[in-house]
Amino acid sequence: MAVRSPRCGRNTHPPEDPPASPDPNALMIADRLASLGTLVAGVAHEINNPITYVLGNLGDLDRLVGAMREAILTYRGSTTPDVIASAETKIFQAGGLEVLDEILSDAQEGAVRIRDLVRDLLLLSRVTEQASTPVNVHEILDSSLRLVAKQLAARAVLVRDYRATRKVAGDRARLAQVFMNLITNAMQACTPPDPPRHSIVVRTQNTDAGIELEIQDSGNGIPEEIQHEIFTPFFTTKDLGEGTGLGLYISRRIIEQHGGSISFRCPPSGGTIFRVHLPECGVPPPHPPQEG
Ligand SMILES: Nc1ncnc2c1ncn2[C@@H]1O[C@H](COP(=O)(O)OP(=O)(O)OP(=O)(O)O)[C@@H](O)[C@H]1O
Ligand SMILES: [Mg+2]
Repeated sequence: MAVRSPRCGRNTHPPEDPPASPDPNALMIADRLASLGTLVAGVAHEINNPITYVLGNLGDLDRLVGAMREAILTYRGSTTPDVIASAETKIFQAGGLEVLDEILSDAQEGAVRIRDLVRDLLLLSRVTEQASTPVNVHEILDSSLRLVAKQLAARAVLVRDYRATRKVAGDRARLAQVFMNLITNAMQACTPPDPPRHSIVVRTQNTDAGIELEIQDSGNGIPEEIQHEIFTPFFTTKDLGEGTGLGLYISRRIIEQHGGSISFRCPPSGGTIFRVHLPECGVPPPHPPQEG
């Protein structure tokens, strides 16, 4: 469902009316499901890669262990030099003992990558609200960036400039949802065919009251005539299937519930910068969290 911007004139979605007063919690889940839907293909591909080399390494290990087992059995029966030499040849032919460490560490690395991807996905998909805990935003940013690493690399060069040292109090899953929305918008604004020219910069720094996080893209920018509408639910300029128009509405709601704020600007040099302020862990939010 999408709301056209009559002034914008770029939307081509069928004009459906949004619900009179959408339930923000239902919209939050809808936004998350939409993100997960678009992520699945990329994540499946990301998992496929390490699985291939985990399986390859297990195959090598199987051959090597087979040769070692045979050699041990041979040693047991005889200690004559030619029998020992033939047992050693078999181990050598199976790759040699030197590759054992390499095989194991490659397989472990692949398994860790899969575990992390699944963890990243689970973080984003968690439905239940979590009590506010001290959060390192860099961990959540990295988790979101891992999930879109392939798609992002196809569109832009990623620069991380992490300087914040403070933690914020928050719900990790909901913050992950915000970061994923902002990163996805940045990627979508960096339209091909000139990926090397595009960049996405993710910046963090401490402020007096907490941290400031910026996601800057060198993409299309936001036309002035639609800037006042981008936080409206169901407002989108994207084609059907690419955007529901919920991302920024939900993101602002989540950030405000964390006692923070979100803003954007389009610098004259082009592109867009979204800025999020979050209060430091332990500092009471300036306004009570907004509901509804
Ligand atoms: N970084 C950006 N660069 C250019 N335009 C942007 C950017 N971020 C947001 N916009 C504009 O704001 C609109 C609303 O963004 P929002 O994230 O709320 O919805 P969406 O991306 O269209 O859909 P989705 O619900 O899938 O996020 C976008 O359709 C786009 O026109
Ligand atoms: Mg979006």
